[in-house]
Amino acid sequence: MSQAATAEDDFDSAQLTDEIAAAFADWRRSGRFGHLCGRSPSMQHVFQQIGRVAGTAVTVFITGESGSGKEMVARTVHDLSRRRKQPFLAVNCGAISPHLIESELFGHEKGSFTGADRPHEGFFERAHGGTLFLDEISEMPLELQVKFLRVLETGMFTRVGSTQSHAADVRVIAATNRPPAQAVAGGALREDLLYRLNVFPIELPPLRAHAEDIPVLAEEFLADVCRREGQGKRFSAGALAQLACYRWPGNVRELRNVVQRAYLMAAGQVITDEDLPSAALQPAPAAPEVAGDGAANGAAVTIPLGTSLAEAEYRLITATLQHFNNHKERTATALGVSPKTLYNRLKEYASRKPQAAPAKGP
Ligand SMILES: Nc1ncnc2c1ncn2[C@@H]1O[C@H](COP(=O)(O)OP(=O)(O)O)[C@@H](O)[C@H]1O
Ligand SMILES: [Mg+2]
Repeated sequence: MSQAATAEDDFDSAQLTDEIAAAFADWRRSGRFGHLCGRSPSMQHVFQQIGRVAGTAVTVFITGESGSGKEMVARTVHDLSRRRKQPFLAVNCGAISPHLIESELFGHEKGSFTGADRPHEGFFERAHGGTLFLDEISEMPLELQVKFLRVLETGMFTRVGSTQSHAADVRVIAATNRPPAQAVAGGALREDLLYRLNVFPIELPPLRAHAEDIPVLAEEFLADVCRREGQGKRFSAGALAQLACYRWPGNVRELRNVVQRAYLMAAGQVITDEDLPSAALQPAPAAPEVAGDGAANGAAVTIPLGTSLAEAEYRLITATLQHFNNHKERTATALGVSPKTLYNRLKEYASRKPQAAPAKGP
């Protein structure tokens, strides 16, 4: 909310500054920052943004693919804020029926609609003094986005079926896994709400864009399972190298799941590449858009329906290669294939060069 809220006044701001400094000292030592870990420049940037905003009352807007750590960021902001002794509530707007979401958020009075046989406290009331994390904000019905924007602007909300407004002593953190501009263009997110949320955006990179953190994260997740299950295991160098090669469409969450599975699969004390799912099982990148990871900046190739698979592959490979200025490694990574596979294809194309391009269909 915009006004300084009551729960925020009890805390000594010097104490908070000390705690945030301690969190950074801890990060330098351990690679962990609150609920998050990572040492890459992009994660370091995220931690700096958290450190800057946590102690304020500002609404934070977190974007990033599913599994990239948005909720962990929200929890870290809460834990480093004056509100950390009060509730942190996470609400997935996409998981609540559109008919119920207004009363879930703002509450309702008895008799305000059929089935409302008693008054109901909404999330804004239950999170009083604390933090409300609203995930998948672009799944919120558009009419409700109007009301939500008004709550952000005025700090006041109204229960369904009531005319009385209440002060919302809640710090809001919103998130979406859809690129916000795209959600606006597609009509799922109101532009005025996006402007309001964009006061303090935090963009989480997909895991493939900070692959240097994969070993740190994998070791962290492995240490977690070992602690829980009570048996020590470690990765072979080959296993760590293989983890670093995956594309991780499910991001950090998927990495955590793969590590937990590998722990169970490994018969001995060493987790080898044999205990990991084969790279071939990984879903292919969403074609025809190249990578879709920002590295390709939304560049696209258009492949008409009816194009043969061989021709589509040729066009996608050559367009990606061109996009990455002939950089073979980055091209292979974006396409989710090994450099060797890419070289083999290019050799094949070169050998039939006289045709310039494969014939269109049979
Ligand atoms: N930077 C990180 N460091 C440690 N664990 C992480 C990190 N990012 C994500 N995770 C793990 O991945 C899981 C999914 O993260 P989450 O924040 O729920 O993703 P999102 O909300 O973006 O879908 C978390 O439960 C946590 O175990
Ligand atoms: Mg989530």
